[in-house]
Amino acid sequence: MFDLPALRAELSEKYDLTPSPKLAEEMSDIYARMSRVVTPADWIIYAPYVKAINDLKAKRNAVILGHNYMTPEIYHGISDFGGDSLQLAIKATEVEADVIVQCGVHFMAETSKILSPSKTVLMPDMDAGCSLAESITAEGVEEMRRRYPGAPVVTYVNTTAEVKAASDICCTSSNAAQIVAALDADTIIMTPDQYLAQNIARDVPQKNIVWWEGSCIVHEQYSAQDLRDFREWNPGTRLIAHPECPPDVCDEADYSGSTSGIIKYVTDEKPEKALLITECSMASNIADQLPEVDFVGPCNMCPYMKKITLEKVLYSLDTMTGQIEVDPTVAEKARLAVERMIDLSRKLGI
Ligand code: 13P
Ligand code: SF4
Repeated sequence: MFDLPALRAELSEKYDLTPSPKLAEEMSDIYARMSRVVTPADWIIYAPYVKAINDLKAKRNAVILGHNYMTPEIYHGISDFGGDSLQLAIKATEVEADVIVQCGVHFMAETSKILSPSKTVLMPDMDAGCSLAESITAEGVEEMRRRYPGAPVVTYVNTTAEVKAASDICCTSSNAAQIVAALDADTIIMTPDQYLAQNIARDVPQKNIVWWEGSCIVHEQYSAQDLRDFREWNPGTRLIAHPECPPDVCDEADYSGSTSGIIKYVTDEKPEKALLITECSMASNIADQLPEVDFVGPCNMCPYMKKITLEKVLYSLDTMTGQIEVDPTVAEKARLAVERMIDLSRKLGI
């Protein structure tokens, strides 16, 4: 737990974090990427943090990987690479830096460390978890193997290193269907997201998919009736859902896909009005590059993703605290499952 006033005071001794209209103006090229969703008044407050973090990044030879659900000042202000879970995992294998700062949630940082053990991986807030990752342990995977002998285990990256280590191959929402379809087995165990598994079962009917009963606290909140109500409330709006939503929600939507799939869909289609049935920041992060699209509410926040703030990123990079460690034996097995996913994704052209 952070003592925010103390953290702020400590940072202010080293960095000039006073809100600065002059600095905000000097950094207007960065602001231009988020000017539709971040007010000028807020940018005046953020600019000194963005500058301090970007300067420190150069000093530490660090890169920041920002997930699509980060707030715009993090996503556009300090991230060197933004993307979905798969893109960030692949990026972690490619970057040359000494330090990776993961702006996302804990399992993403752990995945980066598993793939790049020699790098220092920083997690600005260790409490940035995930309801899916918390829903299953390695024993849970073994229990599924006992229930379905011989069936391979496909595990969503939203899991701990121990769970990945107990699995055969990982997947993300952008490659799950292709990975499941490519496996040489009739019955396939998917953990831990029941809804992703049910959505994939519909997309890959030739496989018998069985699942663990985890769910995402953000996406499980939507119902098909909500979507019908949205259509009535704002006719003509394109409804776009993440596959962590229940299957009847995805069926009711005009499109369903991973966070990068959502970006591609909205970029290609440019609907006049779009409602993203996913985490709130997703729409904010693409609003400026798509001025012709009106993103309409509602806005469901992931409490874990929202634990990552500019202050915590600066503190972590300044003090080098929040370093991710993974037991080497676990990491080695988990790496196999993640690398199998990356290799198969590349082979399948995803
Ligand atoms: P993506 O792989 O689509 O980025 O999803 C990650 C996530 O946590 C969604 O809730
Ligand atoms: Fe986990 Fe859901 Fe938050 Fe993604 S949005 S990190 S799946 S709780």
